[in-house]
Amino acid sequence: MRLRVTRRAAHDAKVHNSAPKAKAEIRRWLVEQFGGSPRILDCFAGPGGMWRLAYGETDRYLGLDRETAADDPRRLIRCDSRRYLRHRAADLSAFDIFDLDAYSSPYEHLALICSRIRPTRRVGFVLTDGLGFNAAMNSLDGALLAYVGLERQRGARTQHELRERIAEIAIRRSLDAAGLRLVEARRAEKRKNPVMIMRYTALLCEPTGGVQATRSGSRGAARAARAVPPVEVLPASERAGAG
Ligand SMILES: C[S@@+](CC[C@H](N)C(=O)[O-])C[C@H]1O[C@@H](n2cnc3c(N)ncnc32)[C@H](O)[C@@H]1O
Repeated sequence: MRLRVTRRAAHDAKVHNSAPKAKAEIRRWLVEQFGGSPRILDCFAGPGGMWRLAYGETDRYLGLDRETAADDPRRLIRCDSRRYLRHRAADLSAFDIFDLDAYSSPYEHLALICSRIRPTRRVGFVLTDGLGFNAAMNSLDGALLAYVGLERQRGARTQHELRERIAEIAIRRSLDAAGLRLVEARRAEKRKNPVMIMRYTALLCEPTGGVQATRSGSRGAARAARAVPPVEVLPASERAGAG
């Protein structure tokens, strides 16, 4: 018997969530920081594993994906999410959490978002970085290298050795562009082999100028936010052991 492969079946056959528990855990932590009902822009929405596991099937959610199924219950737009992020009509300030669950690099999306937002309140990002293999092959994207101020060097192991640093600089540049600083981060990783290491990071950020108190009087929250000590983009304690 021949099986017909539908668009949905083909999409689901890909590995969208190779470490679902760890990925869901860092997302749940981030959601909690927003008091439980943040508005989420999911730029790599996939079949919705994280929407179900981590986001409680929230309707405060917009998913973007190049492939979507007609029977998917989420609010979805089928598109290249970079097009949406660049679109003049897209109001990115409407979201609290930007979920960037890419197969390889989330940094182009992160840079795009951060070039367009100027938050006056806390914002979260979730990043999946699967750049290990490309870095080991010395074949990271030229635009990413330029963004972090590196040049490709033939035959060198620079990209592999600096993978962690490249990610840190990309994140810092993006946050700086948005006028954000990191408050706290959660990380997890999955090692498939010494170079195929998936890195999962959740970042809780706030405006460098401080959090604007709302009219409903969240002075306590603003005070608490100011009390959080500044930390490195990826704190040293979290860097140790990664790699
Ligand atoms: C790792 S999966 C995401 C899994 C998803 N977070 C979930 O929980 O089910 C990556 C998804 O990103 C989509 N994708 C890759 N590049 C994209 C782009 N530029 N714009 C929109 N979707 C993209 C792929 O079609 C795939 O569904």
